[in-house]
Amino acid sequence: MEASIQAVRARAIEECSQVENLEELQQLRVKFLGKKGEVTQLLRGLGGIPAEQRPVVGQMVNNLKSELEQLYDEKQAQLERLIQQKRLQEETLDITLPGRMPRSGALHPLTLVLNEIKQIFIAMGYKVVEGPEIETDYYNFEALNIPKDHPARDMQDTFYITEDFLLRSQTSPVQIHVMERQEPPVRIIAPGKVYRADSDLTHSPMFHQVEGLLVDEGITFADLKGTLQAFAEAMFGPETRTRFRPSYFPFTEPSAEVDVSCIICRGRGCRVCSNTGWLEILGSGMVDPRVLAKVGYDVDKVSGFAFGMGIERIAMLKYGINDIRLFYINDHRFLNQFR
Ligand code: FA5
Ligand code: MG
Repeated sequence: MEASIQAVRARAIEECSQVENLEELQQLRVKFLGKKGEVTQLLRGLGGIPAEQRPVVGQMVNNLKSELEQLYDEKQAQLERLIQQKRLQEETLDITLPGRMPRSGALHPLTLVLNEIKQIFIAMGYKVVEGPEIETDYYNFEALNIPKDHPARDMQDTFYITEDFLLRSQTSPVQIHVMERQEPPVRIIAPGKVYRADSDLTHSPMFHQVEGLLVDEGITFADLKGTLQAFAEAMFGPETRTRFRPSYFPFTEPSAEVDVSCIICRGRGCRVCSNTGWLEILGSGMVDPRVLAKVGYDVDKVSGFAFGMGIERIAMLKYGINDIRLFYINDHRFLNQFR
């Protein structure tokens, strides 16, 4: 009996030294101290030994039992300490490391170009105003001398909301809002979004225009030419030349589309300008007296000029961008180039 007690003790201690985690330790407790455990079996076996030996052997088994309980408790405490140490190590923070800096954004290329356009005209005494993107038929067409059956309506494929409300197809209606509010002299630019059913590499269903309007006494076509020449030089460089081509807009007479000498090849001819040496940047003209009369201006006293340019167009020329959709898809590889 004594020998088997020593054998159980030796194995219980040896196996405990092999234990590596709490689950294994729990299995060991069950194996030796559980209801059917080996130490429990030894206690049961006491009945089979002579009565006079029982107290001594019983004492030995009880001693073994408490020795193992203590051993396993210590082992458990040791394992728990190890687990905690490991966790603390894993969660260590080096508070001396530099933090993650928030990435600062940058202005969109269209905003950069618009800011530049604004600065140029503000320096010439223009005020920046805005108008609504949802317009009535009256402001987008009628007041601009484009009656219902006018063929010029087809020049701009318009998104209608109802029969009377539409998404403005141009910034020109802002001319009317401004002149209705204010007596001459007028000197404004009006940037903003415009919408047309139009989509390809150089046309987008939503794009941006900047409208310009100047009305005062004695304004002539020479003022329009001088103003747009000054703008072209400020925007594209002092050696930039302009070319005025006769054109047609229902709300200006005479009308002109304005080209600048190609900013890539400086007029020698290249792919960007289709070997013409020129690039169209805007539409313009002398405000038709019928438009001025409609807002109640005295056409015997005042005259004016107006122009409208596409911001995307100018940005594409300035940065050599060949697909207008790049402006709207927010690809960081594209946008990062303008930081
Ligand atoms: C107009 O919209 C006139 N309102 C301009 C004007 C204003 C003339 C004042 C006279 C007086 P046009 O449809 O040509 O004109 O458009 C002007 C510019 O907008 C074009 O030169 C082009 O640069 C740009 N544009 C036109 N359609 C699109 C489009 N779908 N996507 C991107 N840019 C466009
Ligand atoms: Mg045009």
